Amino acid sequence: MCQPLCSSEVDTMRVLLIMKSAVLAVAIMTCAALLPGQSRSSHWYDHAVIYEIYPRSFQDTNGDGIGDLNGITERLDYLKQLGVDAIWITPFFPSPNVDFGYDVSDYMNVAPEYGTLKDWDRLVTEANKRGIRILVDFVLNHTSDQHPWFKESRSSRDNPKRDWYVWRSGGGPKQPPTHWTSIFGGYTWTWDNKTQQWYYHIFAPQQPDVNWANPALRKAMFDVVRFWLNHGASGFRLDATPYLFEDPAFPEDPNPPQAGAPAALEPYNSGRPENHEVLRQMRKILDGYPHDPVLLGESSTATIADLAKVYGANRDEIQLPMDFLFGNLTALNAGIFKKQVDAAELQLSGQTPVFFFSSHDHPRQWTTFGNGKNNDQIAKLTATLTLAQRGCVLLYYGEELGMGNMPAGELKLVPTGPKRPRADDRDGERTPMQWNDALNAGFSTGSPWLPVETGYKRYNVVTEQRNSSSIYSWYTQLLRLRHENPALRDGDYLPLESGNPDVLAFGRQASPTDVVLIVLNTSAKEQQADISGMPGQWQGSHRMLMASPAADAPRSQSFTVAPYGVFIAALQ
Ligand code: GLC
Repeated sequence: MCQPLCSSEVDTMRVLLIMKSAVLAVAIMTCAALLPGQSRSSHWYDHAVIYEIYPRSFQDTNGDGIGDLNGITERLDYLKQLGVDAIWITPFFPSPNVDFGYDVSDYMNVAPEYGTLKDWDRLVTEANKRGIRILVDFVLNHTSDQHPWFKESRSSRDNPKRDWYVWRSGGGPKQPPTHWTSIFGGYTWTWDNKTQQWYYHIFAPQQPDVNWANPALRKAMFDVVRFWLNHGASGFRLDATPYLFEDPAFPEDPNPPQAGAPAALEPYNSGRPENHEVLRQMRKILDGYPHDPVLLGESSTATIADLAKVYGANRDEIQLPMDFLFGNLTALNAGIFKKQVDAAELQLSGQTPVFFFSSHDHPRQWTTFGNGKNNDQIAKLTATLTLAQRGCVLLYYGEELGMGNMPAGELKLVPTGPKRPRADDRDGERTPMQWNDALNAGFSTGSPWLPVETGYKRYNVVTEQRNSSSIYSWYTQLLRLRHENPALRDGDYLPLESGNPDVLAFGRQASPTDVVLIVLNTSAKEQQADISGMPGQWQGSHRMLMASPAADAPRSQSFTVAPYGVFIAALQ
């Protein structure tokens, strides 16, 4: 039976009504047309372009053959001119370099090869002057085995830091607690003779996993977060976020991988429910700082539904989880691209997707998607595929030049030594930045830690800046357009049908009259497209914003697209 409402319930209803109309008003406001340069989102990162820098390879300023923080400072004007909003610098902290900085031995310092904390402070000041933010790479799943915390932890079973890492007895020295496989191969356990127990590591044995369940460890890690925020960081790229916790029962693997196969994301080793609390707490720390700092997550997931959860049930965890379902694609195929873009845009409840193809862990896209003949055109196509999307886009240094991977055969011949203590297959995508066509591509006056990739005579900043049809020129124009055009900046995503499996078409819409059409032909042949799904009575377009090769704006919804052709056209 209905009861009359008491006065406090009436008040609550009033408040709810007022809130509802406020929400409606905001919705109406956001549907209004956006002016050039105006933004729909109040968060800078929702449409940011973040440029990843591998500091070892970007710019050396002291001639030791290893890039440094001062080198990044020196190149800030270049980055500003390119048009990036932020940079993410991969680890530059003291480290034995078993995994090039991803094995940290001191979280609150700069490795001497990269400079000093003073250099960092100067870099932040100079970057901020140019409107560029800096994200620090936070390696939070594991430390180096040379970190003082681990040294203490392994010193005795009753050391206060013993529980800062994951120790188990298993069945003695011959029988690890489980037979789980580590991502770098071998078991996830290493036997410690002194204390007669195994410690857990999802990566290399020199990268022991920390125990996030331990409150003192958690506090120490959160102190690291505050340290860098206090030093001007605008947020963090969070390394290896799926792996923070393991199933506490440590069950055996029901489907052990074949010998030599890398570990997969498994319910017992990744994506554990306990992760959420840690990420919420970290986010809360960030939210207490001004200027909207951000968490960019290395958040590999097996499905798009799992990726949606990484943002947090109340959107209070990672603002920018990287979409590896998209980033791991390697086939130049319109249908596959469409499936993954539609998933990111339509199945993440409107949260901000993060698109990328290249990184220090992924072979460069010029090489991955190139066919050996049309690589430059294909590079423009894949650039447009990411940079024309709604959401955040990550670029990897040199991607804007069409830098290629060093071929595996050549990489094998590169010796190890003091500057390159360990050979790593991923070094193929970590070669020095190509600034010009002179010695060492302008990266260093000394002998570089890794040779410059042979394509540098043609693919370098100076040469490409002089050429209006270079890959670099395409990127700069596209970045400018993305910032200035309201539909491309943060207009809604419109999934379209092209009527042709080799042609990908999608739209971006800032208002009913402000729509752009993006079309890509992923085949080596001219293709016919017949677009459907455009809102309203759209028949054709009269204004081409960018096209490669040059093309006229389509006058109707049926048109041809050149081999590997790509264009962005305005609706008006
Ligand atoms: C992340 C890094 C990768 C590193 C690994 C272990 O995946 O991107 O380079 O090897 O973590 O820290």
